[in-house]
Amino acid sequence: MRQGPAPRKWRDQGQVGGRRARNRARDGAAGRRQKKCADGDSLQVMSARDTDWDGVRLHVVTGKGGTGKTTVAAALALALSCGGRKVLLIEVEGRQGIARLFDRPPLPYAERKVAIGLGASGMPGGDVYALAVDPEGALLDYLAMFYNLRRTGQALTRLGVVDFATTIAPGLSDVLLTGKATEAARRKADGREVYDAVVMDAPPTGRIGRFLNVSVAVSGLAKVGPIRNHADTVARVIRSPQTCVHFVTTLEEMPVQETLDGIGELRADGGIQIGGIVINMVRPAMLPEADLKAAAAGRTDEAELALALKTAGLRDSEPLAAALAAELTEYAQSMAVQERERCELAAAGQPRYELPFIADGIDLAGLYTLAEALREQGAA
Ligand SMILES: Nc1ncnc2c1ncn2[C@@H]1O[C@H](COP(=O)(O)OP(=O)(O)OP(=O)(O)O)[C@@H](O)[C@H]1O
Ligand SMILES: [Mg+2]
Repeated sequence: MRQGPAPRKWRDQGQVGGRRARNRARDGAAGRRQKKCADGDSLQVMSARDTDWDGVRLHVVTGKGGTGKTTVAAALALALSCGGRKVLLIEVEGRQGIARLFDRPPLPYAERKVAIGLGASGMPGGDVYALAVDPEGALLDYLAMFYNLRRTGQALTRLGVVDFATTIAPGLSDVLLTGKATEAARRKADGREVYDAVVMDAPPTGRIGRFLNVSVAVSGLAKVGPIRNHADTVARVIRSPQTCVHFVTTLEEMPVQETLDGIGELRADGGIQIGGIVINMVRPAMLPEADLKAAAAGRTDEAELALALKTAGLRDSEPLAAALAAELTEYAQSMAVQERERCELAAAGQPRYELPFIADGIDLAGLYTLAEALREQGAA
């Protein structure tokens, strides 16, 4: 059941191809639909279809703190599992946000099924698993997996060596966390991949470049040897077409700026595939554009408003109309800011998806609503 407004879909009309066609449109092919921004620049409209991120196995979700990274990562996992696919949702910040979101007790260091994914038009939802990774668990895993050293690892933990190692070398923590995600994305059993997709609820935008830059992170730590090799393997997956980084933002100045900075940073790096921009918590415009423009400029007809209020049987219609007009101006100005931020994001040239603000708060039903919106817009 859909709650809140329908997501806004910006699609190229008549477009038939997936990534290639979208890129063609973005690069300036004729026939694309354009949206005029307030500053007069005409900006490219994104196109999206069901297969926007075909071939991607590891979806990294970042964004400014509080913009909805965990919520969007969970909704994306639900959306990706459509059609019976098996998806793993990984959390790396030790906050147990995923457990809370799915109304579960804190997740252990083990992959647990937390939900059945989104079903759509006769296609069943697959299974969504979740895992909360911490550097210690990931190091023990690493030792067990590559050296059969689980017992030694446990002894090291008891001695506090693991804590010590990950504290003095934060780069090591990062490579262990990202290493767990890349291992899950590549894991095979009986000749086929265990997970069809892995979604990582990643650190915020300010730290994402360093977090993913595992080779650099361990370069001061290990020039050769197993850690170095591990870091290089992890880096290869992160820098392959199998991985992409999505940015979550709201239509406010700071999150938008962080998103643009984050995209700029990854572009400068050049090796990591940039994913979509998920514009979260979008509130619908409740007035026609002309009324919004007038209200933003403080030109609401107060006399007309007072008359309408009076006709509706309200007392003190004049002061009431003045108060309402002031509120209307504030609302219209905030909508204008939203539109400006939307245009700034459009200029980044990445596919964009809009998710509605769910007024009742995010529960499982809300997550499915967001998952459906992501799927409808082609993010999954
Ligand atoms: N589309 C939405 N509609 C309504 N509320 C939302 C929506 N998306 C997220 N929220 C709410 O916003 C708050 C922040 O969301 P969330 O925890 O996912 O953000 P985050 O970016 O992961 O935060 P942090 O940086 O603390 O990890 C939560 O209360 C969540 O329920
Ligand atoms: Mg979070």
